[in-house]
Amino acid sequence: MNDLIIRTEKLTKIYEDGYRTVALQDIDLTIARGSLSCIMGPSGHGKSTLLHLIGGLDRPTSGRVYLEDMDLTSVGSSKLAVLRCRRIGFVFQFFNLLPVLTVLENVEVSMMLAGVPQKEQRERAIEILRLVGLEEKCHVKPNQLSGGQRQRVAIARAMANNPDILLMDEPTGNLDSKSEQELLTHIHKVNQNGKTIVIVTHSQMVAAVAQRIFLIRDGRLENS
Ligand SMILES: Nc1ncnc2c1ncn2[C@@H]1O[C@H](COP(=O)(O)OP(=O)(O)O)[C@@H](O)[C@H]1O
Ligand SMILES: [Mg+2]
Repeated sequence: MNDLIIRTEKLTKIYEDGYRTVALQDIDLTIARGSLSCIMGPSGHGKSTLLHLIGGLDRPTSGRVYLEDMDLTSVGSSKLAVLRCRRIGFVFQFFNLLPVLTVLENVEVSMMLAGVPQKEQRERAIEILRLVGLEEKCHVKPNQLSGGQRQRVAIARAMANNPDILLMDEPTGNLDSKSEQELLTHIHKVNQNGKTIVIVTHSQMVAAVAQRIFLIRDGRLENS
């Protein structure tokens, strides 16, 4: 079994919209299966760009991203969308939950999009919400939850289709330190459950639980 789940090769992203920005340059990194890694570095230095490229949300200008032995950069858009849906879960800084739906429904929506039968959707959603400690909150709306609880719903939603990899972009960026600690406990549990996790963060608390830290500065990887 290949113990590297992600590998990048000279990954480079240049944005050209009137103004040319070299957001990432020649990034070579590997992510081990089942690991918890952090991407750190100053704002505007390319962390989100890297996360999006790793997750196939965006295409590099040059270089490669391998998911196991598959070169994501050569996969067509529709196949890439299916791969993302099945294998990769995203958690963003601002939750992006649907306010009119309950916690349970927010998690079920992802499975609906993946064509999971309704009964199975419910069973699985409850199981995942239990893992992030929100089984008591299934039937409330997101606006009745704290920031930390909302972010746990976002993690549950990202896990809905049982992806191997969870990519999180500053998931604790808007939380107080108590909520951050609590969220971290759940992230840790999810990692111990076998998920590979990559977190973009400024938080030392988050970095402290990571097995590996990638430092990005001016679009380049400083150490690994
Ligand atoms: N869609 C885009 N179009 C043009 N420039 C972008 C785009 N996304 C990011 N950038 C630029 O690329 C650089 C890296 O951005 P980003 O990856 O968001 O940094 P970070 O997540 O570390 O704050 C920044 O200079 C940013 O302005
Ligand atoms: Mg960012």
